[in-house]
Amino acid sequence: MNRKVTVIGSGNVGATAARSIADKELADVVVLDILEGVPQGKGLDILEACPVEGSDARVLGTNDYADTAGSDVVVITAGLARKPGMSRDDLLRKNYEITRGVTEQVMEHSPDCVIIPVTNPLDAMAQVVYRVSGLPRERVIGMAGVLDSSRMRTFIAEALDVSVENTHAFVLGGHGDTMVPLPRYSTVAGIPITELLDAAAVEAIVQRTAQGGAEIVKLLGTGSAYYAPGSSVVEMVEAILKDKKKILPCSVFLQGEYGIRDLFVGVPVKLGARGVEQVVEITLAPDEAAALRKSADAVRELVTTIGV
Ligand code: NAI
Ligand code: 2OP
Repeated sequence: MNRKVTVIGSGNVGATAARSIADKELADVVVLDILEGVPQGKGLDILEACPVEGSDARVLGTNDYADTAGSDVVVITAGLARKPGMSRDDLLRKNYEITRGVTEQVMEHSPDCVIIPVTNPLDAMAQVVYRVSGLPRERVIGMAGVLDSSRMRTFIAEALDVSVENTHAFVLGGHGDTMVPLPRYSTVAGIPITELLDAAAVEAIVQRTAQGGAEIVKLLGTGSAYYAPGSSVVEMVEAILKDKKKILPCSVFLQGEYGIRDLFVGVPVKLGARGVEQVVEITLAPDEAAALRKSADAVRELVTTIGV
């Protein structure tokens, strides 16, 4: 391959994304973790799946950032999950420290890359990556909206008994309880779901989408979702590497769009070889705009806490 993607963090999301990138033969893949042996083992295991998948991607697991040099795209999944006794703020600060350190090392070896932060709290960690990396805003693109929209599409397809391929969904805002699923812009074969489902059914889909991460956490008992997050990362990586100009909801540094400034928040963007090639502004109804502002306020509280 002549393209290279590094995935930092060889845990559930990182390994799932790395495997899919290799399976799809999108790029050579480097998986890096602080754990010794784990990235090497998972990297080799993924590499050994490639003959079966018909992929000539080269896959390497490592603890050494030198191996990541010259990456086109870097996905950051390194981080801690919340442990008993740890407050949200404790987690915020721990993942801030991890994300800051990781970003510094990534930039040393791949100064021209596009970075896709995944670590939670997503929008705040994307802001950390942006501030620490010094990259232009086009090249730091947080993953959350693709996942939240995929969940919403799943629930729409179930409710209407249609193919997921006929569904389209938009979820804006920060990746948290305040996210903003937009039923008016969510469609089946181009028809808004508000014309296909009654208000109670639409509201049930909105609520389930907003609680989508928590639903999986509760079922798993330990850890959080990784198959759908992994696929969501890879849709973004593919859009960038193939210069697809694909419009996807991503967390980006807004500079006045949607009335929000100097903050990472999820909005529709066009993804291509240069990263974010356009922030797509759609017209919001007053209640939708108010919900987006509330969600942005929640993100701002986090970034203010860590001062980024
Ligand atoms: P995990 O615990 O399975 O993996 C995290 C990995 O990061 C571990 O292997 C750990 O050793 C590694 N790590 C920790 N510190 C590191 C460092 N300084 N350098 C390199 N590696 C380091 O967690 P999982 O399930 O993969 O989730 C990863 C992160 O992604 C979490 O913060 C999670 O909340 C977040 N997440 C975000 C989603 C989104 O939509 N943005 C969706 C799903 C997960
Ligand atoms: C999710 O939404 C944990 O953010 C992660 O599944």
